[in-house]
Amino acid sequence: MSETRKGIILAGGAGKRMYPLTIAVSKQLLPIYDKPMIYYPLSVLMLAEIREVLIITTPQHLDAFKLLLGDGSQLGMKISYAVQDEPNGLAEAFIIGEEFLNGSPVCLILGDNIYYGHGLTKMLGEASSEENASIFTLRVNDPERYGIVELGGNNEVLSIEEKPVSPKSNMAVTGIYFFDPRVSEVAKQVKPSKRGELEITDVIDFYLKDDALKVNTMSRGMAWFDTGTHDSMLEAAEFVKAVEKRTGQRIACVEEIAWANGWIDDGTLLEHAASHGRSQYGLYLEELVSSQPN
Ligand code: DAU
Repeated sequence: MSETRKGIILAGGAGKRMYPLTIAVSKQLLPIYDKPMIYYPLSVLMLAEIREVLIITTPQHLDAFKLLLGDGSQLGMKISYAVQDEPNGLAEAFIIGEEFLNGSPVCLILGDNIYYGHGLTKMLGEASSEENASIFTLRVNDPERYGIVELGGNNEVLSIEEKPVSPKSNMAVTGIYFFDPRVSEVAKQVKPSKRGELEITDVIDFYLKDDALKVNTMSRGMAWFDTGTHDSMLEAAEFVKAVEKRTGQRIACVEEIAWANGWIDDGTLLEHAASHGRSQYGLYLEELVSSQPN
């Protein structure tokens, strides 16, 4: 891959399914147990070693994201922001982000998707080194809620449908997508669907027809949450709590990942610890430095 891959987090949307929670606060800033939701997709990009990230959100919520994540330099990253005026669909991210991408390949992650599991970093690294397009599917019980792939006899993908009434399989396309630099041009050709959105499935379909799509089936050992409903948000929070309590390690601790990636040093991690006051999160950061083997 000649150009370095850049990341986009799509964190807009009207959030109406979550009202009244999201009248005053962006959905992607709501807590998932001990941290804001957006830390989870941000940490996934960081695990894929993506350092330059664009956060796309609504005009109302832009300032809150900037307050939380700033310019990213505190994490050894470069974070910038763009606005999506109306929730016109996921594929619009590549049109809004065209200037930011400036010809680089991209990884788009939805701001309400959470991933956790063995082999995640390896899986991301492999997708990131892919030439064209790469997506991830996982078996779900409620396929009507997602983009669904139709599989042929040899498990090859025949088609992709957004929220099908009669799903042709239980394999959902999850909210992380790797595309080559053609993606902004591809997105511009997409026409609004019946529900008036520029669908990501139409972008994926272009790559499928171009024979340029790798579809990776995530294993049973992988946990994936689309926290788009009250129940799924609570389930994700319970899951994070259970793993963190059991292991004593935090999921999606962005300061820890920046430090482990070598993007920030011990001193900067301790500054983060101090800025978190007497919170358990701050103490955890402090202990990362003090418990290092000499
Ligand atoms: O989570 C995986 C699913 O995500 C995929 O299987 C589907 O193919 C894909 O369309 C998407 O479905 P959702 O129903 O989850 O999409 P939703 O409208 O909830 O949007 C996902 C996130 O993107 C959500 O955090 C809001 C944000 N968003 C959404 C739209 C439509 C935006 O920022 N802008 C938008 O225009």
